[in-house]
Amino acid sequence: MSGDTATLHLDGIPPHMLSEVEKHLKPFRLSLEKLQEVSARLRKDMLRGLGKHAHHRAAVKMLPTFVRATPDGTEKGDFLALDLGGTNFRVLHVRVLEEEQRVLKMDSQICAIPQEIMLGTGEKLFDHIAACLAEFLDSQKLRGQTLPLGFTFSFPCEQKEIDKSILIRWTKGFNCSGVEGEDVVRLLKEAIHRRGDYHIGSVAMVNDTVGTMMSCGYRDQSCEIGMIIGTGTNACYMEEMKNVKRVEGEDGRMCINTEWGGFGDDGSLKDVLTEFDEEVDRTSINPGVHTFEKMISGMYLGEIVRLVLLKLTQEKLLFKGCPSEALLSPGSFETKFISEIEEPDTGLENAKKILTKLALDWDLVDARVARLVCDTVSSRSARLCAAALATIANRIRTNRGLDHLKTTVGVDGTVYRKHPNFSDELQAAVRLLAPKCDVTFLISEDGSGKGAAMVTAVAQRLALQSRL
Ligand code: GLC
Repeated sequence: MSGDTATLHLDGIPPHMLSEVEKHLKPFRLSLEKLQEVSARLRKDMLRGLGKHAHHRAAVKMLPTFVRATPDGTEKGDFLALDLGGTNFRVLHVRVLEEEQRVLKMDSQICAIPQEIMLGTGEKLFDHIAACLAEFLDSQKLRGQTLPLGFTFSFPCEQKEIDKSILIRWTKGFNCSGVEGEDVVRLLKEAIHRRGDYHIGSVAMVNDTVGTMMSCGYRDQSCEIGMIIGTGTNACYMEEMKNVKRVEGEDGRMCINTEWGGFGDDGSLKDVLTEFDEEVDRTSINPGVHTFEKMISGMYLGEIVRLVLLKLTQEKLLFKGCPSEALLSPGSFETKFISEIEEPDTGLENAKKILTKLALDWDLVDARVARLVCDTVSSRSARLCAAALATIANRIRTNRGLDHLKTTVGVDGTVYRKHPNFSDELQAAVRLLAPKCDVTFLISEDGSGKGAAMVTAVAQRLALQSRL
């Protein structure tokens, strides 16, 4: 099946040119066998991550989340939610209605996080967050209330309890000093305390994958996997407690945040990486960190395409051998261009506009080659994600001793939502890689907002039950 989608875009590229271009694209085309190998490697790494002692050195962290149950439909109440780690920072007021089994977003506000805060001190970051929350409480006339708060913090955290969560390291575009190794809930509470002008109730820390799973879980109770393919990529799933060696107790299940973005950080994906992936890593703010994510997610896909286009230009296969200033500038080829160029009907026209915007001297063949490059890079991303998701589905199936598993994945993220055929490719590859699993995909409705409220609501329900 390797390269089958690419054939869509081969028309109009002269054969001699195509074979030259293909030499550079071949390393991106992963065969089914290769994907199976990748999946098998991830399976081993997941086991290592779950282990009691081996996890310190594990590339795939497999972090316990202290979320022990998915919603049962009896949750209710008003909640605040904070969402940090995607494209924007948001504050939300969410209401969970038991009778209608619905989660309502009452209101929300987006606050920009300026670059200097993303790369400044942790204290400044949390002061900024506390200030945004204050503004929101005022606008909603909620300042007098003490509402429970779900904090979606989409970075790898060693969670000690639902309200104690230590940042292991920043990923994506963030790098604030003094936060790694610290309890993020404490930093948030301290910032609110410094202001001293409002209170919050109990806090539940949530990774965005967990929020995504939980927000879908309210609609479909067989949803036990959450997956994000956006700025970053990651997944969580319900693991048997007896396999979670780091947390006491043998009964029931706990949601594990896999942090699969870190897969390959120990060199295990060396044979899959292309020279372009290595360059993306070298020039990123965190070289050596989140190898798998850098091949897949929105923060990096555009840059991979830019580097391939540049290489083909240097090889005189594109744009008459002349790169523009823009093509030479890191970050100039946005990931959203890939989706636009791959649109089935308007794609070629979009390609022409984008190449013009990048001040390139293109002809029709160049536009077609650019489309082929986008298709190749996004297909690899979808298929790698599929390999990882198949690993999780297969694991749940064998955990439960089932011949056949029927399960649902809650999904979110700009790449999955916006790209014209990413989800189709991913789903087709999952069917091949996990043939004994019947996987349904459910797009999450605001997992990072409503899902965080849901985690808080489930935690409250469980706390109440244990007191009875
Ligand atoms: C990064 C973060 C992870 C998050 C993912 C998707 O991989 O480390 O925690 O879930 O991005 O936002």
